[in-house]
This record gives sequence, C-alpha cells and structure tokens, in this order.
Amino acid sequence: MELNINGEVRQLDEAYGDGVLLWAIRDGLGMIGTRYGCGAGICGSCTVHVDGVATRSCVTPVEAVVGKEIRTLEGLQAADGTLHPVQQAFIDKQVPQCAWCMSGQVMQAVAFLEENSAPSDEEIVDAMKNNYCRCGCYVRIKEAVAHAADLAQEVS
Ligand code: FES
Ligand code: FES
Repeated sequence: MELNINGEVRQLDEAYGDGVLLWAIRDGLGMIGTRYGCGAGICGSCTVHVDGVATRSCVTPVEAVVGKEIRTLEGLQAADGTLHPVQQAFIDKQVPQCAWCMSGQVMQAVAFLEENSAPSDEEIVDAMKNNYCRCGCYVRIKEAVAHAADLAQEVS
C-alpha cells in the first residue's frame, strides 16, 4: 500500500495496513521522529499532520489516512536545510529537557501557527495545553511558540 508522506509517495508493507499510523511511520517506514508516549490518544507525543490537521498517530488507523497528505517532523525542514521557524524557535529558547515530547509539541505548534499566525499568550496556552510535557517545560514552550510566530513574520 502507499502513503503520501512529507511530499513523497512511500510504499508501506501491507502488514502495517491494519494498524495505527504511528507504527506504520516508525516501524514500517523507519521514520523515528514521531514519538510513542501513552499510545492512547492522550499525551500528544505522537502528533503528526493529516491534511494539515494535528492528529494523534497512535490512535489513527492507517486505512483512514490512505490518500491523504501526512506530514511528520522529518517534513518540516526546507530542502536547503533551513529549519522551520518552530524548530528554530525551540532551539533558540532551549526548550527541551529530556525531549521525548518535543516532536509532538513542534507538530502541534506548526499546525496551530498555520491557523493563527499572530497568537496571544492565552491562545498559545490553549492550543498547546493537551500536549503533555512530563519535564514541565511549559513556560519555554509558550515562549518558543510566540518566538516562532515572530520568526515566521520576519521571513514572510
Ligand atoms: S502517544 Fe499518541 S497521544 Fe500519547
Ligand atoms: S521535555 Fe521531557 S517530556 Fe517534555
């Protein structure tokens, strides 16, 4: 079967077709940027985009995304190697501690800023509140998302 992922059509072993998107991405395609956390749709570690919408891949059946555009952390960087503004902002603000949740945090933030390019602090907190960080990096996450919005304005 085929998946459209990060602008490419990738062949996926049929064995992953009955499962969820997270394992198709990680084990089937070997793209390990997407993280497993709770496996129950709660923590947000596994967030990817499906047709531009932040989606929890651990509870999303593969069959539900065939023919749709999937984007993962690996798809954020520009072809010339330039980091996405959200990636750059998370580095600038030195957000991660253990970093386990960060792929999901970044993907959630990218989807949010594509909907709201100049958010208030309250809007950022509301958009990010369901992506859990066990290290408690929430203040830096908020600062990084605000910084990413500023960086995106500078390059646009
Ligand atoms: S691993 Fe998917 S929401 Fe926690
Ligand atoms: S940085 Fe450790 S869980 Fe978020």
